[in-house]
Amino acid sequence: MAKEKIAVAYSGGLDTSVMVRWLIEHYDADVIAVTGNIGENKELASVKEKALATGAKKAFVIDAQKEFIADYCYPALKANALYENAYPMATALGRPLLAKILVETAIQEGCTAVAHGCTGKGNDQVRFEVVANTLAPQLKVIAPLRDPRWGFKSREEEIAYAQKHGIPVIVTKKSPYSIDANLWGVSIECGALEDPMTPPPSDAYQITGDPQSAPDTPETITIEFDKGAPVAVNGTHLDPVALVAALNTVGGRHGVGRIDLVENRLVGIKSREIYEAPGAMILHFAHRELERLTLDKPTARFKDSVAREYADLVYNGLWFSPLRNAFDAFIDETQKSVSGIVKVQLFKGSIALNGRSSPFSLYNENLATYTTSDTFNHSAAEGFIHIWGLPAKTAWNAQLKANGKK
Ligand code: ARG
Repeated sequence: MAKEKIAVAYSGGLDTSVMVRWLIEHYDADVIAVTGNIGENKELASVKEKALATGAKKAFVIDAQKEFIADYCYPALKANALYENAYPMATALGRPLLAKILVETAIQEGCTAVAHGCTGKGNDQVRFEVVANTLAPQLKVIAPLRDPRWGFKSREEEIAYAQKHGIPVIVTKKSPYSIDANLWGVSIECGALEDPMTPPPSDAYQITGDPQSAPDTPETITIEFDKGAPVAVNGTHLDPVALVAALNTVGGRHGVGRIDLVENRLVGIKSREIYEAPGAMILHFAHRELERLTLDKPTARFKDSVAREYADLVYNGLWFSPLRNAFDAFIDETQKSVSGIVKVQLFKGSIALNGRSSPFSLYNENLATYTTSDTFNHSAAEGFIHIWGLPAKTAWNAQLKANGKK
């Protein structure tokens, strides 16, 4: 039988390093390490050498930061998609892209299988495998952490295995948390966070400062949107990667974008996780405020219902689905007028609105004003109220009769 050739989603950390070796051993396979860079802020320079030193035949580090923000995060932003009204989905949006990069590289390199390091009770295994099965059904998917032969019960056991096999792992002080980070945000769980009654210890946060020790003066920033996508901060045009990075920095300084959430996982359990997403939360806030100004009422109402569906779909691993494409087409149509600027003020963990304007604003001061420049037709209100309330009045009185009260 021809030797298996496996493309592994490789991060350079202990788990995936051990996994590379483990696959070589248990599958008699050639392993190719694939690292997608979506802004994890990690030392990626050495990842390639590390993978090769661990036993991978080839290693690829693929920069996908721009694609991630422009083609995954911004569509979710335009949709106002926050999972369970709270989580901007940095991890959930990153997975389909990382999985796509992996299967594309696997196909290019003539691999027979792909492998990932997700555990058996999280959402990420689902996202990963649904994407792999969708985009490349011919590839086998291997999940070593779900394999009964995996057997590592602790980090110490993994380190011992690494040392035995000469795997170059840098053993840093073990963080008690499981952290997944990219440019759109950081997801942190485990350790003390497993008790939902315990407030997050300060060392759990990675990119935001404590709001209490944030600067004592508020900072106002102006964000410009073009058709629903952010294009400039404080008048400076920035590409998507630079824009989100800039907002992460300023937001992080003011301690904004911290989220403490008990959420419903797709696999049926509730989990407690904390998130840091200063840039994403500032953008979600500003985008929504601009929509209040520019979307007509029925469109905005309907779009709200799409937001929840969109978030569920992304969270549940169905990024590559016809429904998401159809949602995007609808959302892009609504965003044609979502251009303009929003001023927000950041102060000790809070994001407040300081003004908004748009060339397509539906707000008409002459209609809204209570001054002499009022152009609203007051006398027309009388007939409107009569007709508007007619069905309710009719039905209410009929019900009184039906209930024997009249
Ligand atoms: N609960 C989040 C999600 O399913 C994040 C999962 C990964 N979190 C982590 N700390 N590794 O999207």
